[in-house]
Amino acid sequence: MILVTGGAGFIGANFVLDWVAQQGEPVVNLDKLTYAGNIENLASVQADSRHIFVQGDIGDNALVTRLLAEHQPRAVINFAAESHVDRSIHSPEAFIQTNVVGTFQLLEAVRAYWGSLTGDAKAGFRFLHVSTDEVYGSLAASDPAFTESHPYEPNSPYSASKAASDHLVRAYHHTYGLPVLTTNCSNNYGPYHFPEKLIPLMVVNALAGKPLPIYGDGQQVRDWLYVKDHCSAIRRVLEAGRLGETYNVGGWNEMPNLDIVHTVCGLLDSLRPRADGQSYTSQITYVTDRPGHDRRYAIDAGKIERELGWKPAETFATGIRKTIEWYLANPEWVARVQSGAYRDWVQTNYAARAA
Ligand code: NAD
Ligand code: DAU
Repeated sequence: MILVTGGAGFIGANFVLDWVAQQGEPVVNLDKLTYAGNIENLASVQADSRHIFVQGDIGDNALVTRLLAEHQPRAVINFAAESHVDRSIHSPEAFIQTNVVGTFQLLEAVRAYWGSLTGDAKAGFRFLHVSTDEVYGSLAASDPAFTESHPYEPNSPYSASKAASDHLVRAYHHTYGLPVLTTNCSNNYGPYHFPEKLIPLMVVNALAGKPLPIYGDGQQVRDWLYVKDHCSAIRRVLEAGRLGETYNVGGWNEMPNLDIVHTVCGLLDSLRPRADGQSYTSQITYVTDRPGHDRRYAIDAGKIERELGWKPAETFATGIRKTIEWYLANPEWVARVQSGAYRDWVQTNYAARAA
């Protein structure tokens, strides 16, 4: 049994679906179901006894303590977070509450639980914290990619809150000996990605005939990784990572935003051409830049490859095609996210199941 937090979000849901399909080991999924949590992502495991969903907050120490005592997981994987940089600029408080205070409360509950274990259960227990490359700050064009020893220089309320949580996780290992692992990953893309983030926003806006908003000059560089590859990296670190270590995870795939948007438009032009025969690129619109916008992220994923033998399975070409095909095949998911209906469904169907 493992306990996953934030497993109704984009990466967490992909992780839970892959975990149940590939490992078969039961998973308790604790998720607050914020706007970013979509229980419909987990429809295929809703009736599967290996998936136990609990609506709740990682900051609720009593709830987490009860779940740990009841299910006795061998590992906790913390995906739960406020994750969108633009939201953190407009409303930072939720980021401090969940990413900092929530992670602290979760660590406290896990520390007490781990302290109560004995023998093999204690020795084998792991707390894996899922973090981001954004904690390292921004790179100039000629800088080498981020290694695990790069200084922390977070620039947004989001990345500062994730940096704080990483430091707490590190401190719980150093001070209390909690068996922790941290992963710092680059930008993910793939199925179930909420259409507030660059790639899914471009897909859904393109298909709806809406503008494709490019912040600033569109030359900011991100390092893109297919979400299933991030999930396989987390499984590998959980299995074989050295305690107290951090592992950078990335796709060796740096691209400027404008190139990403052109790639998305090109695929849509061939898979779902516009009725008027024009390219979707005609919908590209330049808008005011994000305040404090980091110019470039790049991950050196050499350590996880050398130590744990992990490499991404997808190239950007294969992963982005799968992603676009998934969005084209799932218009109901997109429509229900856009209309907000996915949240109504949660209220009517899950209110009774709330912890
Ligand atoms: P997401 O926003 O899609 O999902 C976050 C999930 O956490 C949602 O289901 C939400 O309901 C849940 N949640 C939020 N606050 C909670 C709380 N207090 N208690 C319990 N659940 C709560 O995020 P994502 O993109 O899936 O990211 C998952 C993790 O991976 C985050 O920690 C993020 O920082 C990290 N990460 C994301 C990326 C990326 O490209 N998306 C890259 C690297 C790291
Ligand atoms: O690097 C990992 C991080 O990647 C994760 O930690 C975050 O949780 C995740 O949200 C993501 O952060 P970004 O800010 O890089 O992702 P986003 O999709 O918001 O933006 C990607 C780039 O595209 C960024 O340079 C801003 C730009 N952008 C974004 C949007 C939504 C646009 O130009 N237009 C847009 O409409």
